[in-house]
Amino acid sequence: EKAGHKHFMAKEIAEQPIVLAEAMTHYVQNGEITLPEALDFTKFDRITMVACGTAYLACLTAKYWFEQIARIPVEVDVASEFRYREPPIPARTLAIFVSQSGETADTLAALHYAKGKADMILSVVNVTESSMARDSDLALPILAGVEVSVASTKAFTCQLSLLSLLTLKAAQQRGKIDIGTAAKHLENLKKIPSLISHSLAISSDVKKIARKIAKAEDVLFLGRGAMFPLALEGALKLKELSYIHAEGYASGELKHGPIALIDNRVPVVVMAPRDALFDKTVSNMQEVMARGGKVLLISDAKGIAQAGQGVWETLTMPEVDPVFAPILYALPAQLLAYYTAIAKGTDVDQPRNLAKSVTVE
Ligand code: F6R
Repeated sequence: EKAGHKHFMAKEIAEQPIVLAEAMTHYVQNGEITLPEALDFTKFDRITMVACGTAYLACLTAKYWFEQIARIPVEVDVASEFRYREPPIPARTLAIFVSQSGETADTLAALHYAKGKADMILSVVNVTESSMARDSDLALPILAGVEVSVASTKAFTCQLSLLSLLTLKAAQQRGKIDIGTAAKHLENLKKIPSLISHSLAISSDVKKIARKIAKAEDVLFLGRGAMFPLALEGALKLKELSYIHAEGYASGELKHGPIALIDNRVPVVVMAPRDALFDKTVSNMQEVMARGGKVLLISDAKGIAQAGQGVWETLTMPEVDPVFAPILYALPAQLLAYYTAIAKGTDVDQPRNLAKSVTVE
């Protein structure tokens, strides 16, 4: 049932090109994003997104998209905080709850709190017969297929993919995007599955780097813009699978504290597709190197040619349109955690103290 893979996690990582392509085919027909008519973004002035763990990080990524592309303000919260803070929910709010299982206790409680307050409750789930799907006004499946490994991988990229389609739909309905730009974004999104498929070839490089990372006690992940949540995801995955202490930071926050941690024992993973903020990320990376930090630069060949001098290690990704780069860059984050766990001999599919579905708070 692991289809020739050593672990469910490896199988689920490798499945991403297929499930993502299938989900795209499901949601995009004849160049049109097909979503239920009930979902009308002209009816909302803001979005509140609530989730836990990796699903929360998918929401944080989507905030950049919704705000930049659809020009709609988004608040994102972890469910355990949202539910007890009992925030006011203004009129014309769309509340989106993202959950692989659809059963996470805190997210479900947050959903129940928002019911009757938000104009619409939308859940983005993998399990369509889940409690969240049942209790929502509308539930959209991410179509990732069953995810067995405790660490979420394909569900995360499928969540991102669906959230990016929701963004484009919102931008179209709200008149924030012209036909040509929307078509270009869709084309770029359609390319992601095959880019992930090609990028699986970095596995042998990752394996080699992971053996070195396995010896570290602390690892930092840095990213800017929509790559900041990806830095958080890289750190979360590494922590939960390898039990190595890891933190993700927005690159620009480094000098406000965390740079004090840098010495020659701390690997710093810099997630840097060549986007509008690339040069700024590189300058933060150089600050790390000037203090002896060991930088693993993840970028495309041009980015590495431009900025890779003197770094500790590199991982070369294919060129990708920067807007949806976070979906592609989830792969090196997943592989780093996976191979570091292998190097440390930890239980990849069932890390200690963790459960697949957290149905108690
Ligand atoms: C991390 C991970 C968890 C889940 C979180 C939410 O790899 O899998 O952080 O993302 O427990 O679970 P769902 O999505 O089922 O609500």
